[in-house]
Amino acid sequence: MAKRRVRAHNLVYVLAGMSAVLTIALLVGWTLLLLADEAFNSIPVMVVGIVSYGVVLLSLAALVAFFVRERRELARQVTFLDSVSHELKTPLASLLLELDTLERPDLTDAQREGLRASMRDDVARLASFIDDVLQASRVVHGQRSYSVDHVELATVLSRCADDISRRRNTERALIAIEVRPGLGFDSDPVALETIARNLIDNAVKYSPHGGAVRVAAGPSGRTITLTVSDQGIGIPKEHLSRVTERFFRVPSAAVSQRPGTGLGLFVVAGLVRSLGGTLTIDSRGPDQGTTVIVSLPRDQHPSDDPSSTA
Ligand SMILES: Nc1ncnc2c1ncn2[C@@H]1O[C@H](COP(=O)(O)OP(=O)(O)OP(=O)(O)O)[C@@H](O)[C@H]1O
Ligand SMILES: [Mg+2]
Repeated sequence: MAKRRVRAHNLVYVLAGMSAVLTIALLVGWTLLLLADEAFNSIPVMVVGIVSYGVVLLSLAALVAFFVRERRELARQVTFLDSVSHELKTPLASLLLELDTLERPDLTDAQREGLRASMRDDVARLASFIDDVLQASRVVHGQRSYSVDHVELATVLSRCADDISRRRNTERALIAIEVRPGLGFDSDPVALETIARNLIDNAVKYSPHGGAVRVAAGPSGRTITLTVSDQGIGIPKEHLSRVTERFFRVPSAAVSQRPGTGLGLFVVAGLVRSLGGTLTIDSRGPDQGTTVIVSLPRDQHPSDDPSSTA
């Protein structure tokens, strides 16, 4: 992606140079021809002039489109920086407060243990945020290395649900995991956990407090399908195609009052692509909930048993 960006910049410089040279050549040429009163008598001169103006206009249109895109990218990066500072500052401020409180001599052992648990959560939140940023950078530069191992879906999905409900302060029972015990397949365990974690986190985060989330996984032909659905704030149709763009967040009050950097689905889309799978995001619109379906290539595993659900 970085290379594509450099190529786009080079193209812009070529277009800008071409437009400048052609404009000067046209101005000088037409002025000379008009002075000689020959411009309108010669068809080849007219054709060359019109084609050249066409090229100049097209180059200018391409330049304008490029700068509009750059402005948009810049605006997204500013939003991203705001979100980053928020994501870093909140747990740091909380850690500082907890450290100060720990110094108080009148605390009971239980209170001290509570503070330590809360500090561990803050550190975990910081670590997971830094992981997300690093993953996004590796996806952008195609530098992620993959390892294949057996993944047991119920274990991975339950671990993600446990962590997220603790971090988002919601009841664990609100996240229903529907997957046959023992269902597994060969895949990249870290990538799979990152995908599941981001999708479940979004489903919980973009639901009103207490909203139910359903996480289902199962075989479907030669693939494993993971479905995460919620009944939350939904995604307006016009933004559905953009939610996997880097730094993109739906511009609405409901979204901006929830923390986020717009990196999660970008990372998910990159990982799913590199695992040879497909990602489908659907929502009937605002407040109509969201359903995300990930299909990944599957290796048949002897422990698959189509009859039971956990
Ligand atoms: N389940 C969902 N319900 C409603 N909107 C969603 C959902 N999942 C994603 N979105 C929309 O898509 C945007 C991009 O999601 P993404 O996970 O990439 O970023 P984020 O959640 O804002 O930040 P983070 O990088 O912390 O995940 C969100 O900001 C939100 O507008
Ligand atoms: Mg997210």
